[in-house]
Amino acid sequence: MFDMNPSLLIQIPFFPEQASNFAFEIDLFYLFLVALTGFFTVLIAAAAIYFLIKYRRRSQGEIPEQIEGHLKLEIAWTVIPFVISMFIFAWGAKLYYQMYTDPKDALEIFVTGKQWMWRAQHPDGQREINELHVPLGRRVKLTMTSEDVIHSYYIPAFRTKTDVVPGRYTTSWFTPTKVGTYHLFCAEYCGTQHSGMIGKVTVMEYSDYQAWLRGVPREKSPAEAGEQLFTSLACSNCHLENNTGRGPSLQNLFGAEVKLANGATVKVDEAYLRESILNPGAKVVAGYSNDMPTFQGLVTEEQVAMIIQYIKSIGPKQGGAPTTAPAAAAPAPAARGGERPAPPQAAKPAAPQGEQPKQD
Ligand code: CUA
Repeated sequence: MFDMNPSLLIQIPFFPEQASNFAFEIDLFYLFLVALTGFFTVLIAAAAIYFLIKYRRRSQGEIPEQIEGHLKLEIAWTVIPFVISMFIFAWGAKLYYQMYTDPKDALEIFVTGKQWMWRAQHPDGQREINELHVPLGRRVKLTMTSEDVIHSYYIPAFRTKTDVVPGRYTTSWFTPTKVGTYHLFCAEYCGTQHSGMIGKVTVMEYSDYQAWLRGVPREKSPAEAGEQLFTSLACSNCHLENNTGRGPSLQNLFGAEVKLANGATVKVDEAYLRESILNPGAKVVAGYSNDMPTFQGLVTEEQVAMIIQYIKSIGPKQGGAPTTAPAAAAPAPAARGGERPAPPQAAKPAAPQGEQPKQD
């Protein structure tokens, strides 16, 4: 998978800056479509004008010669457009496939959209609002959801735009290829201040990114916060180790396949865990009764994500120190701060009421 490309060589005039691995090829694809459209527009218009003049009626009562078809011509005007459209399809599908295939070893950042701000949380717990700091040359994967209506996370310089939908997780990934500050827009009308739901994306050298992470007051990592929620919401009373509780054990659960009461099997991913927290009766695990209460309205989307991060992090020993292991990004130990024991206080709500869309 290419992460760098010759994007800096061909900056197309009037296009936004090219600052991600996708930008150059997407520009090329659009340029090809525009050129193709332009070519046929001119060709058809010129032919129409030429024929209009050449075959105009020259006298009253003139009867034109009847033409009964031309096989070669008809094959040509069927096959050529077919080949061209299949080329467009194949190229577009390849780009789509690249953009919507989860990258390996990506730095995972969790994004929440909310009328009218963007929140982001880095793997070690650093948060930012209406901003996103990312390291140059590293794959970055955004996992996104919305607290209210549909938004769309749009970074023109990266040529990425992904809907952020309440009730589900969507993902987007990119590798930033150019240091700088770029626009972030909401690209889906989401209410009166939609146009103000903007921000900036800052691409930094990896060492600067590390320094930036260290400078942001670090809260608990999502997994640590999730563990605390797991206790404070009393999940831990039922989901005991070794399947001895009223609910199934959650150790080593993420990524596994579980058998449901209705005989079906389901792969445990973010979407399944989220559904099971908010609508526990939807997919009950075989051997258990449907007696877990819903946590709909009791936890924010960010808190759901934290609990999921915690479940992802627990191995054979439930309740042990969770390892968040933010994939490839492997920040320096100083930035992890994981050594600090979490104070035994109740989890603080992720989204205090009346929070204003500015850095806090
Ligand atoms: Cu959020 Cu438009």
